[in-house]
Amino acid sequence: MYSSSTSALPTPASLKNKKVLLTAGPTYEPIDPVRFIGNHSTGKMGYALAEAFARAGAEVILVSGPTNQKTEHPAIQVIPVTTADQMYAQVKQHADTANILVFAAAVADYKPKTVSEIKVKKSDETLTLELVKNVDIAKTIGQTKKAGQFTVGFALETDNELENARAKLQTKNLDMIVLNSLQDAGAGFKHDTNKITIIEKDKITIFDLKPKTQVAADIVTFISERIHV
Ligand code: CTP
Repeated sequence: MYSSSTSALPTPASLKNKKVLLTAGPTYEPIDPVRFIGNHSTGKMGYALAEAFARAGAEVILVSGPTNQKTEHPAIQVIPVTTADQMYAQVKQHADTANILVFAAAVADYKPKTVSEIKVKKSDETLTLELVKNVDIAKTIGQTKKAGQFTVGFALETDNELENARAKLQTKNLDMIVLNSLQDAGAGFKHDTNKITIIEKDKITIFDLKPKTQVAADIVTFISERIHV
């Protein structure tokens, strides 16, 4: 079922007494003391979401990868991390007591198998790095999800968007996925605007292109409607 949505701002008390655990930003996977594998995530969407949840009355734990984003809201506790392993350790520690878990981080899928203690020097014409899979934080936490917990994933897709997003909804045991398409002008990394589609098991809701702060408010309103039914 398809529908388009123009949801209103969340009311200031709609998530009172709710605890939100949120991941945001990229992760950096070190190669040596001066280099890492990273990605273009700015953390903008995650921080905008944290603010929107806090404005709706929730207590927010924001596990954040390296970013320039800042928040001053007293209801948001920022836990800074660098790698996927560190992010997972913090999420695991706080997952049990959270009512809503939102995985907005762009976690690196792979990390170098070994990290050199000294700077890797230039030698041959080619250099091969061996990478190993990182923990899938959303999937691992999804496996032990408790009754009443609401979990939300993000997906940035370039092709077969709906199919891929639906598969992630299932494998990660999520209640909904916020899909950003790179095919939409003005959406995704580096933009202040975003165009999202929310995918649930049997419903798809399409939103207009909006500033990320407004997109965040839409997502929070959408979630609060789901958890208050
Ligand atoms: N995610 C996560 N831990 C990872 C990878 C992804 O928690 N190691 C979360 C993201 O925060 C997001 C969702 O899973 O909410 C989907 O992320 P995405 O990168 O699109 O999915 P992947 O499973 O990594 O699939 P692929 O990169 O192959 O598309």
